[in-house]
Amino acid sequence: MLKTGTIYGINGPVVYLKGNTGFRMSEMVYVGKERLVGEVIGLTSDTTTIQVFEETTGLKPGEEVTATGSALSVILAPGILNNIFDGIERPLSEIAKSGGAYISRGINVDSLDTGKLWDTHMVIEPGQTVYGGTIIAEVPETSAIVHKVMVSPDLEGTILSVVPDGSYTINDTLAVLQTPSGDEVNLTMTQKWPIRVPRPVNKRFPASKPLLTGQRILDTLFPIAKGGTAAIPGGFGTGKTMTQHQIAKWSDADIIIYIGCGERGNEMTQVLEDFTKLVDPKTGNALMARTTLIANTSNMPVAAREASIYTGVTLAEYYRDMGYHVAIMADSTSRWAEALRELSGRLEEMPAEEGFPAYLASRLSAFYERAGMMQNLNGTEGSVSIIGAVSPQGGDFSEPVTQNTKRFVRCFWGLDKSLAYSRHFPAIHWLTSYSEYINDLAPWYAENVDKNFIDYRNRLIAILNQESSLMEIVKLIGSDVLPDDQKLTLEIARVIRLGFLQQNAFHPEDTCVPMSKQMKMMDIILYLNKKAKSLVSLGMPISVLKSEPIFEHIISIKYDVGNDELEKFDDYKKEIDDFYDRVLEKNA
Ligand SMILES: Nc1ncnc2c1ncn2[C@@H]1O[C@H](COP(=O)(O)OP(=O)(O)OP(=O)(O)O)[C@@H](O)[C@H]1O
Ligand SMILES: [Mg+2]
Repeated sequence: MLKTGTIYGINGPVVYLKGNTGFRMSEMVYVGKERLVGEVIGLTSDTTTIQVFEETTGLKPGEEVTATGSALSVILAPGILNNIFDGIERPLSEIAKSGGAYISRGINVDSLDTGKLWDTHMVIEPGQTVYGGTIIAEVPETSAIVHKVMVSPDLEGTILSVVPDGSYTINDTLAVLQTPSGDEVNLTMTQKWPIRVPRPVNKRFPASKPLLTGQRILDTLFPIAKGGTAAIPGGFGTGKTMTQHQIAKWSDADIIIYIGCGERGNEMTQVLEDFTKLVDPKTGNALMARTTLIANTSNMPVAAREASIYTGVTLAEYYRDMGYHVAIMADSTSRWAEALRELSGRLEEMPAEEGFPAYLASRLSAFYERAGMMQNLNGTEGSVSIIGAVSPQGGDFSEPVTQNTKRFVRCFWGLDKSLAYSRHFPAIHWLTSYSEYINDLAPWYAENVDKNFIDYRNRLIAILNQESSLMEIVKLIGSDVLPDDQKLTLEIARVIRLGFLQQNAFHPEDTCVPMSKQMKMMDIILYLNKKAKSLVSLGMPISVLKSEPIFEHIISIKYDVGNDELEKFDDYKKEIDDFYDRVLEKNA
């Protein structure tokens, strides 16, 4: 018998029931005649508080609320990829079709298509002992991804029977399992998992591999590890969405979960259009074949927005369990935090900083701590990386969402308004940004890119830091007073900023750059620095050096040398040598 209660009060997305309902905390409920989806978020002996994930307009006191007996959960099975959901995993195919419309409320739709037949290849046999996580079947879910059907983490036992390979729906029985206590359980493709509970793993590995993005400032200067966390804070229009799109398109993650929280609806439509058209360079498949979108645009209910990041990370963990590397983009966690604030306000809780509830930090950490490189229950290795955009009012990083996020992420890619205004993109500022993964990743770079990689990277940063302190002096007394070697540092820093850090997302070659080219670009800039420095130390005036075209040539390498034309770097080395000889001759 499912427990029921009666609505006593309604305040926006929050609904109160009087009396002891017997509901449990975090239980999923159906609210009112329209059976709106809700979740129990507060319980006392005489009041039950529920947040409703759909519009409550028209809901009346006296209507009934029915408990479901289980926590707010998502359905996990083939059909998640190449799909778009709202914050509680209801499909939003409407958004794709009409560009904006969303699901009407109270409609009891299945999260995933239950009628679709999937080509299924069984990989277990009768008599086999299986555990939570054991892969029992493989299903080509999209052209890019093979879905591994697994035993639910809380089950184990002996396989009694297995169906032959063939076409099955997600609810068809694929195998029968006998538990140690003798119960028989039908195994299907479907699992159900509560969104607020991390899926179990065997163990967590330390960070050891970068999540490569093809973006130079990220991969070379401030890399994120696979299984790592990063924040992209930035004011209005500084490039948060663009940066996340670039990572979604080009990173070497197997699967992308893109959570649009509270951003404009047309941006989500844009993502859909872009990703459907875009071809994954690695596989030749459409990008959507490895992508899931979760959309809770600004016009959709706030409670579902609150849930959306946990729904997203649960889907990500599920694919991680299959042995995939998954990257989550959340745009923007500030809009998510605003949903938290709005709900907290409705509940009349005591506000903390700037009206955000005191549990803002713990809720953020409940999201970010689910990232990681893991050994899964079935022994495979997979990862969930989380990249959250933060949109602080006026770009002021001292506000609570940015500050609290900073506590839980290990990469900070700070976007800068003045860089964006001067059209230096990506507007990630090298002086405010950092990555705490550098030491963890150094061995990987040494082995897979170049043994000098980290050293070169540190030298680039050192030059940029010197530029920043020199600019303090220049601001006060002008650049004329600087000695020539310092003027050269400014010139080389300019080459680094324009030639290396600036990267054009709209340029076919420059939009995604392999590590090999990033390394060569650093190498050539540092070679130019070395040669020019020795000219300066031989007394050659900086004005003569700067009259040479070499600096501009090095800056436009990013456009002039294709990603697969790395042999051209030899010509540039020669050009630098010629420049060196020429300047020496001129001043002999
Ligand atoms: N890497 C880049 N290359 C070229 N242009 C860029 C790049 N990053 C950002 N831009 C430019 O900046 C504009 C704004 O970027 P974007 O929409 O990502 O900002 P945002 O921080 O998400 O803004 P909002 O606060 O409105 O969400 C883009 O439309 C684009 O013109
Ligand atoms: Mg944006």
